[in-house]
Amino acid sequence: MKKHYSIAIDGPSGAGKSSLARRAAAALGFIYVDTGAIYRTVGLACYRAGISCKDAEAVEKILPRLNIQMRFNAAGEQRMYLDEEDVSSRIRMPEISICASDVSTLPVVRSYLLDMQRRMAKNSNVIMDGRDIGTVVLPDADLKIFMTASSAARAQRRLLELQGKGVKANFEDVFRDIEYRDKQDSTRAAAPLRAAEDAVILDTTNLNLEESYRLLCRTIKEKLGVQPVG
Ligand code: DC
Repeated sequence: MKKHYSIAIDGPSGAGKSSLARRAAAALGFIYVDTGAIYRTVGLACYRAGISCKDAEAVEKILPRLNIQMRFNAAGEQRMYLDEEDVSSRIRMPEISICASDVSTLPVVRSYLLDMQRRMAKNSNVIMDGRDIGTVVLPDADLKIFMTASSAARAQRRLLELQGKGVKANFEDVFRDIEYRDKQDSTRAAAPLRAAEDAVILDTTNLNLEESYRLLCRTIKEKLGVQPVG
């Protein structure tokens, strides 16, 4: 019998990956790993250090000094720590989204984080989401999903999410940030955002969260034979 299952979910920001993957993982009893949070934590560290997130030399210099940890609390939620400070909320701010996208273009950052991500999938059943999980991090994943939606639909969802957290935001700014990140994440030379050849494409443009979740569960059931409960 197979020891561990791994499900890779890639796609642009705002397609619904995190909320859906988190819920499916809980329903399956799998660990959920949000790899974007790791890039965000590196972006936050550079931002705080006052260095440009695109300056490969400066970023490379601070990497060995970073103390970044991913921990799971009693509820099984992933929390990110930078020098023992819980930065899980701080890394969600719009300026850090841009920093994360910027540092993620640097090959030195990507290779630094590769092992950390692979280790998480080694000993557990896992759903991992990001941009290059099916193509680079877990090329042998049991199921690869590429989740996408139109940029307008994604910007609208991100806006509601930010407003829900009490962050002041408007559609134009959020849309501009989404387009900036889409372009940079998919055109960078190192591990660009793209669907793996064997990925199942799920387009959530015209689906609400519940419909998207049902589609994800159906896909998991069809491909892996396991049924998320809940
Ligand atoms: O999923 P997210 O929006 O939290 O990711 C933040 C940034 O991190 C995203 O713009 C690109 C980068 N990223 C990446 O390059 N590779 C990953 N596996 C995950 C995120």
